[in-house]
Amino acid sequence: MIIEAKSLCKRFRDVVAVDGLDLEVEPGRCYGLVGPNGAGKTTTMKMIYCITEPTSGSLRVFDLDVISHPREIKARLGVVPQENNLDPDLSTSQNLKVYARYFGISKDVAASRCQELLEFMHLSDRADSPMPALSGGMKRRLILARALINDPELIILDEPTTGLDPQVRHLIWDRLLELKERGITLLLTTHYMDEAQKLCDEVLIMDEARSVDVGTPSKLIRSHMRPYVLELRAERGRVADILSRFGHLEHQSSGQNLYFYGNATEEFNGLYGAYPDVEHLLRPASLEDVFLKLTGREIRQ
Ligand SMILES: Nc1ncnc2c1ncn2[C@@H]1O[C@H](COP(=O)(O)OP(=O)(O)OP(=O)(O)O)[C@@H](O)[C@H]1O
Ligand SMILES: [Mg+2]
Repeated sequence: MIIEAKSLCKRFRDVVAVDGLDLEVEPGRCYGLVGPNGAGKTTTMKMIYCITEPTSGSLRVFDLDVISHPREIKARLGVVPQENNLDPDLSTSQNLKVYARYFGISKDVAASRCQELLEFMHLSDRADSPMPALSGGMKRRLILARALINDPELIILDEPTTGLDPQVRHLIWDRLLELKERGITLLLTTHYMDEAQKLCDEVLIMDEARSVDVGTPSKLIRSHMRPYVLELRAERGRVADILSRFGHLEHQSSGQNLYFYGNATEEFNGLYGAYPDVEHLLRPASLEDVFLKLTGREIRQ
């Protein structure tokens, strides 16, 4: 195992951020941690990259204990933290070269890696730009380049694509899949369920510091959802009317939005017939449906 956590806990005074988490990440896989704001994803990652110590339980990375071997572990992994933490006084390439020094990488090697990584992340033409001149997407690409400077075996990515435009997200997805093909293990958090579904071999859904379920995206969908979803967006007055007639079908409601779940599209025929003018969308069930079913639709923090 690249990462193995057993009954992992982290407490901050009276807040239990991670509560009895079990986690097993095999080499060469992309493992996703998803969950509402405040679920404990970042705290879990910080324990894995040895910035925060567990309160109790065991956590091994590369088969080394995080409390007794943090330096050895840190040397072998790369981190994309949730918040951009680039040095604002340095240029793009200086940010990479200074970071390389923390790993004891020689100047020559750092210079050639810096060039390769800037090419890999499509930033070569920005090598000399000062940080304030970079867009949000450029900074995120630079942080990913920086996470690769020590040729890591494991990359920890805390919301790598939050706030990025579709072009940059697609570039980052493409690069992450390429890194996975090279055998690098990825641990990723994201609030985009399409991203988790596309990239992750396995996903752990966290809520309120605990694991709710874990599995491949398709297994999670199969075990929690019927295969089809009919979404309806009704006028306020009609929601109660629709539910009074079709509330016997499995459903969830959120304001004016209604979600009906079925094993076959024919199960929705009665609904269509009764409300042909209501805005609707028929689609296969997704990881987002599983997420909302397991963690609820109300806002957390
Ligand atoms: N240094 C800290 N001191 C006190 N409480 C903390 C600290 N770090 C995290 N917490 C608390 O621990 C809980 C989990 O936070 P964490 O940042 O791990 O959540 P998250 O799942 O990453 O959320 P988000 O999706 O918003 O990034 C929250 O209640 C948070 O307020
Ligand atoms: Mg977080």
